[in-house]
Amino acid sequence: MATLRSCSIAALSFVALAWGQGYTNESEVPHYGQSPPVYPTPEGTGGTDPAWQAAYSRAASIVSRMTLEEKVNVTRGHPGTCVGNSGNVTRFGIPALCFSDAPDGIRGQEFVSAFPAQIHVGATFDHDLMYRYGEALGAEFRGKGINVALLPVAGPLGRVARGGRNWEGFGADPYLSGMAMEGVVHGAQDQGVIAQAKHWLLNEQEYRRNPGSAGESISSNVDDRTLHELYAFPFMDALHAGVASIMCSYQRTNNSYGCQNSKLLNGVLKTELGFQGFVTSDWAAQHAGVASANAGLDIVMPDGGYWGDNLTEAITNGSVTDTRLNDMVTRIVAAYFHLNQDQGYPEVGVYPYNIQHEIIDVQANHASLIREIGSAGTVLVKNTNNTLPLKSPRFLNIFGYDTKLPDSPWTNPSRFGGGYEVNFGWSTLNGTMITGGGSGSSAPPYVVSPFQALQNRVVQDHGILRWDFDSVNPTVYANADACLVFINAYASESFDRTSLTDSFSDQLVHNVATNCSNTIVVVHSAGIRVIDSWIEHPNVTAVVFGLLPGQESGNSLVDVLYGDISPSGRLPFTVAKDESDYGSLLNSTIGSGPFPQDDFTEGLYIDYRHFDLYNITPRFEFGYGLSYTQFSYSSISISLAANASCDEYPPTLSTPMPQGGHPALWETLYTVSTTLTNTGPVAGHEVPQLYISIPTAPVRQLRGFERVYLASNESATVSFPLTRRDLSVWDVVAQQWRLQHSNYPIVVGASSRDVRLSGTINVS
Ligand code: BGC
Repeated sequence: MATLRSCSIAALSFVALAWGQGYTNESEVPHYGQSPPVYPTPEGTGGTDPAWQAAYSRAASIVSRMTLEEKVNVTRGHPGTCVGNSGNVTRFGIPALCFSDAPDGIRGQEFVSAFPAQIHVGATFDHDLMYRYGEALGAEFRGKGINVALLPVAGPLGRVARGGRNWEGFGADPYLSGMAMEGVVHGAQDQGVIAQAKHWLLNEQEYRRNPGSAGESISSNVDDRTLHELYAFPFMDALHAGVASIMCSYQRTNNSYGCQNSKLLNGVLKTELGFQGFVTSDWAAQHAGVASANAGLDIVMPDGGYWGDNLTEAITNGSVTDTRLNDMVTRIVAAYFHLNQDQGYPEVGVYPYNIQHEIIDVQANHASLIREIGSAGTVLVKNTNNTLPLKSPRFLNIFGYDTKLPDSPWTNPSRFGGGYEVNFGWSTLNGTMITGGGSGSSAPPYVVSPFQALQNRVVQDHGILRWDFDSVNPTVYANADACLVFINAYASESFDRTSLTDSFSDQLVHNVATNCSNTIVVVHSAGIRVIDSWIEHPNVTAVVFGLLPGQESGNSLVDVLYGDISPSGRLPFTVAKDESDYGSLLNSTIGSGPFPQDDFTEGLYIDYRHFDLYNITPRFEFGYGLSYTQFSYSSISISLAANASCDEYPPTLSTPMPQGGHPALWETLYTVSTTLTNTGPVAGHEVPQLYISIPTAPVRQLRGFERVYLASNESATVSFPLTRRDLSVWDVVAQQWRLQHSNYPIVVGASSRDVRLSGTINVS
């Protein structure tokens, strides 16, 4: 009888847990202490940078005269026209700061541009375009009087192949992502806008990113080394570039919520990396008042969260110190002064769509940059017998739902996502895809569809078109020079993808290829798209990953298809032959029960590092992309910088920690140089890449790239400077970056597997 009773109790409690109603049944005690406590929050002082110091001294003088209520008011969100609005202090001339999405263009506004998504910018592998992207975005945010631009994104990095937000970042490699973070932060902040790098840290999946009826958020459980070498790495570049704010993330890390995780905020960010700016909560990511204040959160969004009057009370009763509150406010006000926003910064010009208002057109001539990045990030992965570029075709068949504009894109006018809304479970978008869904989607003033751009070209060439946007088995006209098939792969914030393929699109390609001997496929994808069901079909003669090109989509694609621009885009992720090749990194962890756990047991081995480790041949490797011309690589040389110190650890610092980390980490120790020659028939860009085997680390890690333009027969020397950080590993015992004294094999090539030259650096 007793046994039976206990069995039935167990069964009942199991059912309750499965439905999330047993939320309190599991103790949280075993999870305590997995994220080390780091207290108190280091006070911002301006660090070692005179400009920051000057901003701090102005801010501190004002904050010292503010009342408690005024200070608390600055640290919280308020209703307003922007995505986030801080509190003002009018008697000191501190305005309510306007915070706005998105990383690829101002969201939900009129007369703004829709830039390529960050994943597309990553695919350019072009430092200069990364800077100009940030600069143009910064100019638009500034033009609208937006103080804080919620960009750029380095988290998610792309650990999970089906991750819903991977397209918001620059690609699944910390160095590529870091270089882009650096360029975009410089570009945006040079315009006077405060950039907000997000999401700090380890927000690698969408499922259970927030607490809900099933329990707490997923916990990203990561070891110290992986945290530094993979996930914090690109944020270091943003910090080193001077980023003035950081957004903390939704999920838990080592069982402590991102916006109250003292190790991540007080420890890594504000101590190790000397961060001088302010930390903003992701929207509604604050889950405790006192804990978040003491862990290093500086402002809560979009409302008062657990602060507001509660923070006033916590200060009054001593649970949070005056010092901490002063530091929060000083950090926010100092960032405002640091970016000179008190000097002629435009008034906020952000409006809801249903209120008539003055037109503030901030587009300038950004369309040409958008078109340039669009073509530069277009990746040609198959080109049998030089099918592309098209040779003045007279007759084209054009097929597929991704060719034309979505029929009614403005489903949510306040988002203006152009149809690119949060659409749970969708694997494709019925219309050409230029960005992904959710808060990261832009607000295109127009979209040049592939159909429109191709039709313009055909008109010019006195040609003809036959199109079919709907049918899975469209009629092929025998006289056509080629059949162009457009498909896409959709992803959005709020959910992870359920597949990296879809049967309708694959069937469409098969059917066209069955009937058309010159089938060219264009894939607009918000991340990885597996294409093995048709890539080897002999009639599929060319394949292009068009990624997420922004408003000039069709124009930038036609530039490449017709050979006005030789393609040079490179895959910022690995395309596997089969989804199962991603192994445990294919899907996000669903996690059951009230305290779901996601163990990052793969450590450093994500994306190409995973394929290299397990010796899995991908369909197309990270860094891969074809050109219309050919390049030869010759004469590799390695030089040691004069006065370079190759001590194992950076020297002891006698100054406060500069933002971005120890200055020695950023010193160039070696420079690798090589000669590149365009040996082919046409001018074009090449993207030589440098990969290093750092001892005790993955066999290949990207540590250098350049996008180089060469006329036919032209040569150039390409140099890759290598900093101490580029060669170091994180020493978990010393809690410092360590330069191992050893041999470091290096390769220079056209992708992560297309090795052209090799050498060895001997560090001693
Ligand atoms: C997203 C952020 C975004 C914020 C404001 C959140 O849901 O995670 O990336 O900036 O909303 O829209």
